[in-house]
Amino acid sequence: MPQPNNSQNAHYIEHLGIKALKSSHPGVRRLKRQQQGHSAHGNKVWRSSFVLMDYLSTYPPAPKSRVLDIGCGWGLTGLFLAKQYATEVTGIDIDDSVAPFLALQAEINQCAMAFQARGFETLTSDELSGYQTIIGTDICFWDELTEPLFDLLKLAISAGVERIIIADPGRPPFWDLVDRSAETLDASVVTRRIYEPWKTEKYMLVLQS
Ligand SMILES: C[S@@+](CC[C@H](N)C(=O)[O-])C[C@H]1O[C@@H](n2cnc3c(N)ncnc32)[C@H](O)[C@@H]1O
Repeated sequence: MPQPNNSQNAHYIEHLGIKALKSSHPGVRRLKRQQQGHSAHGNKVWRSSFVLMDYLSTYPPAPKSRVLDIGCGWGLTGLFLAKQYATEVTGIDIDDSVAPFLALQAEINQCAMAFQARGFETLTSDELSGYQTIIGTDICFWDELTEPLFDLLKLAISAGVERIIIADPGRPPFWDLVDRSAETLDASVVTRRIYEPWKTEKYMLVLQS
């Protein structure tokens, strides 16, 4: 189990044995200079990732199991699971401009995860059945995302995915997703507070098949 270490560096934050790139990192600065209009919010590591990593360090996936990180952005949580629990992780994101940031973050952490540039709406039941766990952090940030995310949760549970965890700061579309999930799926909400690398509290929608 990773130790709750937390060291600060000018260019990354190290926590639970994984390094999260800061915007001051020379590689990040170079990539941002190259990319005009890098958008869709995948432009940094979001804090819900740290809370989900903390939760997963208490309830980790099985070693060698397959994990799908939807709206993975720079991929921190997936890289954490690949590095600390030897899981086979695939990240997907609708914004392909996150890919070089994910690659850089994988390189500094000396671990790997697969990446596909696509929307989670395109995932099929057959594909989903190949994963035991689905994770997502800060991906329900617009009203328009609630419906397709709810459809994905239903499809994934019916495809046999064992556990789905969506972490969020508690935006209204997330609570809408929680309400819809509670009506028809085996859903619960977990509040998790961390004190390192910052004091912050987030919410997790947890679904079990
Ligand atoms: C707020 S960022 C969070 C990134 C990452 N999960 C994190 O916590 O650092 C939201 C991410 O969701 C991605 N996204 C938005 N809509 C999506 C969709 N329909 N399918 C896949 N990814 C999507 C964005 O491109 C962005 O990278």
